[in-house]
Amino acid sequence: MTKPKVFVTRIIPDAGIDMVLDYCDAAVWQEELPPPRSELISNVKGIDGLLCLLTDQIDAELMEAAGSGLKVISNHAVGFDNVDVAEATRRRIPVGNTPGVLTDTTADFAFALLMAAARRVVEADRYTRAGRWKTWGPKVLLGQDVSGATLGIIGFGRIGKGMAKRAAGFDMRVLFYDPFCSDDPYAQEIGAKSVDLETVLSQADFISVHTPLLDDTHHLINDEAFDRMKQTAILINTSRGPVVDPDALYRALTGGSIAAAALDVTDPEPIPKDSPLLTLENLIIAPHIASGSVATRDKMATMAAANLIAGLKGERLPYCVNPEVYNQS
Ligand code: DGY
Repeated sequence: MTKPKVFVTRIIPDAGIDMVLDYCDAAVWQEELPPPRSELISNVKGIDGLLCLLTDQIDAELMEAAGSGLKVISNHAVGFDNVDVAEATRRRIPVGNTPGVLTDTTADFAFALLMAAARRVVEADRYTRAGRWKTWGPKVLLGQDVSGATLGIIGFGRIGKGMAKRAAGFDMRVLFYDPFCSDDPYAQEIGAKSVDLETVLSQADFISVHTPLLDDTHHLINDEAFDRMKQTAILINTSRGPVVDPDALYRALTGGSIAAAALDVTDPEPIPKDSPLLTLENLIIAPHIASGSVATRDKMATMAAANLIAGLKGERLPYCVNPEVYNQS
C-alpha cells in the first residue's frame, strides 16, 4: 500500500515524528530555521497532509500550491493564527491544534516571568556577573511584592485560568477581563472577579495577557492602554506578540507609564537585534518558550501527529479547530 505523502516543516520531538514516519511517506524539513516561503510552497506540492509550526504562514496560496489532495493541516501549537482557517474550511480541510497539554507549562512560565520581573531576577543576575555586588545593600535592586498584589488577566481561557490558579496560591487578588466569559464557575471557586478592560488596566499591579491574536486584539495593549495602567504596573505577555504594540511598550517603559514588562512573545518574532526594546533593563524577553518543557513538547508532537494521521485516514481529528468541515454536505 502506498503511504500518504506529507510534509513536516521542522524536526519535532521523536514521540511525534516516529508516528508520522511510521504511517506516512514524510519529507521533514531538517534545518533549524523554518523553510523559506519558496521552499514551503515547493515542498507542499501534491501532499496529502501537512504538519506545520506557528512560524509557517498557511494561507490560500499555500493550500492552492498543495493541490486538491490536501486532506489535513496539523499545526504543532495550540494557537493557529498562522493558518487561514476560513480558507481551509472553504476547502473542507480540517485543521488540527494541540490544546490542553501545554496549559500548565505555559501558565508556569507566565508566572515565572511575573515573579522574575517583580523581583528583578534577570537584572540581579546581570548585576552580579558584572561584578557590581559589593555588599548587602538596603536599597539594592528593590522589587515589588507579589503576595497580596492584584493580578489582572486579559483572556480567561485555559491558560488565563491557569494563571489565576497560581495567583490564588500567592494570595493575590485576581481580576479578569474576557468578553466571551464573565460568569465562570471556576472563577468563583478561586475568587477571581470578572471586570471590564478599563478596570483591569487601572487596578492591576500585574497584567498578564492570555488572549488569542484576532483583529480585535491586535495592539490591544497600545499607548492608551499603557496610560491607564499604574506607574508601578508590570506587564506579562505569553500569548502572541502583536497583541502588544512594541513601540508603545518602548514608550511606556522609558517614559515611566509602567515599571517593567516580561515577554515570551514579540512583534515581530524573533525580535530584531537592533530593537530598542533590547536596550532596556526593565524588560525581560524570552524566545517564545512558554510551552517548552520536554514532556509538554512530546505531548504536543504526539497530538499533532495524531491529528495528521486521523485526517489522512479520513477520520475526525481528535483536536480540530474547524469542526464545521464535518457538517458540510
Ligand atoms: C502555542 O502552542 O500556540 C504556543 O505559542 C507555542 O507552544
